[in-house]
Amino acid sequence: MRWIGRALSRAGRKGCVSWARRAAEIAVFLLPVILLGGCGDEEEPPDLRQPAGWDDALRLPDAEDHDPAPDVVEVHLEARVVALEVVPGLMTEVWTYNGMLPGPTIRARRGDRVVVKFENHLPEATTVHWHGLRVPAAMDGTEHMQKPIEPGEGFEYSFIVPDAGTFWYHPHLRSSAQVGAGLYGAFVVEEAAEEAPLGDELLLVMSDIDIEEDGSLGPSDSSGWFGDYFGREGSTVLVNGKILPTVAARAGVPQRWRVVNAARARYFRFAVPGQPLVQIGGDGGLLESPLPVDDVTLVPGERAELYMLPVEGESVVIPRLDANRFHLPKVEEPGDLMRLELVDEPPGHGAPPLPARLAEIASIDTAGARGQPVEFMEQGDPGGAVLGINGQTDGSLTLSAQTNTVEIWTLTNATNYDHPFHLHGFSFQVLDIDGVAPPVRAWHDTINTVPGETLRIAIPFDDRAGMWMFHCHILDHADLGMMAMLHLMP
Ligand code: C2O
Ligand code: CU
Repeated sequence: MRWIGRALSRAGRKGCVSWARRAAEIAVFLLPVILLGGCGDEEEPPDLRQPAGWDDALRLPDAEDHDPAPDVVEVHLEARVVALEVVPGLMTEVWTYNGMLPGPTIRARRGDRVVVKFENHLPEATTVHWHGLRVPAAMDGTEHMQKPIEPGEGFEYSFIVPDAGTFWYHPHLRSSAQVGAGLYGAFVVEEAAEEAPLGDELLLVMSDIDIEEDGSLGPSDSSGWFGDYFGREGSTVLVNGKILPTVAARAGVPQRWRVVNAARARYFRFAVPGQPLVQIGGDGGLLESPLPVDDVTLVPGERAELYMLPVEGESVVIPRLDANRFHLPKVEEPGDLMRLELVDEPPGHGAPPLPARLAEIASIDTAGARGQPVEFMEQGDPGGAVLGINGQTDGSLTLSAQTNTVEIWTLTNATNYDHPFHLHGFSFQVLDIDGVAPPVRAWHDTINTVPGETLRIAIPFDDRAGMWMFHCHILDHADLGMMAMLHLMP
C-alpha cells in the first residue's frame, strides 16, 4: 500500500513516471493521473515496466512494521539457528535473524523512529550494531556501551534515523564468527520527501558462508592464525543468501541497485558485461552527482548505489572480479556472482535522464580542525604476526575528541595488503588520497586503505558523546587486534 501511495504521489508530482513492480495495479492507479493531463507535453506515456517477476528470485522480505504510527517503525528481530538449504541438496545450520538469510530488511523513512525488539535465541551472547546509522552511543550495539545480550534475553533498541541511505545491521560480539555464520541484514532509509525516482529498487546483499561437503557450517576459526591473518572467505559466495541468482531486466527500464557487502572478510568487485553502470550513492546515501564507473569494488561493510539503465544486448553472468586485496602479482580466476537476464521484449522508453545533481552535500569546514593519525600496522614474525592500530595490538588504543568539532584523520596502512577502515556512529568525507581529491563528494563510514597510500578524511562530530569503535572491517582482523576506541567527550 505504502508503495502504491508513493508511486501515486510521485506520479502526481512528476507527471508521467510509473515505476512498476506491480505493473497492473499501478497502471490502474496511474491512468487517471495521465488522463488528467499530468503529462500533456508527451505523446505517449512512458513505458517503464520491469519484466514480470523480474526480482522474484532474489527479492528480500521487509521486516514487518508492528507500529501503526506513520513515523514509527517497530520491528521484531529474533536471532536463532535454523537449518536452511543454502547449497542445493544440503542442509546447513545457519545463524539467522528471523530464520532468514540475510535477515529481514528494515525499512524506514528519514526522521522516523525505529524500535527493534530483539531476542537472542543463539547458543551464545550477542548484540546488534546498526552499521552506518548515526544513532546514540547507547544504541550502537558494542560491548563498550551495552551489556551482552545473553541467550534467552532481549533488548529494545530505539533510535531516530537521521540520514537516508543503504545501511545494514550485524552482531558486534565475536563478530567474525557470528557474521560469518549468517547474522546480517540490510537497513534502508528512504528520503522523507519524495525525490524523483531513480529506478526500481533491487537490494543486493553480498556475502559468503563456509559450508562443508556434508552441509555443516565450517568452524569459525578454520586454519587458525592463517585464517585470522588473511581473513576468512567462505567457500560459498551468496547474493541475498542465494548462489548465482538471476535478476531480469528490460532494455530502457532503469534499476536502482542498493548493494551491501556483508561478508566477514571478502572484497567484492564486479562489472556488468555489456551494460553501463553509474554509481549514484555510497555508504551514506546519494552522491553529489552521478559517477559512471567501469566496475565497482565494495570492501566489507561498504555500500554502493548503482543506476543500471540496460541497453539491448545479451543476457550475461556478472562475474566477480579479483579485488586483489593482497596486491599479489597473479590475480585469481574470477568466479560468478549473479545473472542478468535481458528479456526479449521491446525496450521501455521515457526514462528521465539522471539529474546532474543528486544531492546537496555541504563541504566540511576544516578550518581549525584537529588532526589525528590512524595507522593500520602489524608486528611480529611472519607466520605469527599480530595486527593493530597505532602500535597497539590488543585493541586497547583509545583516541579522544570533543563533541561538536571537526577532525581530520590521516589514515595510513603500514602492512602489505588492504584493510577497510570503519568508524562507528559518524560519517566522514574523503578530503584526498595522496593529495588528490575524490571526483565527487560523498559520505562514507567504511573505506579501503591501501598500503603506502595516505588517505585524509574529515569527520564532523556532533553532540553524541560516548565510546565509539573504529576498526578494520575484515572482522577476523578486528578480532585479532585491529580495533580501537574513540572517546567523544563533551
Ligand atoms: Cu559493521 Cu564495528 O562494524
Ligand atoms: Cu584488516
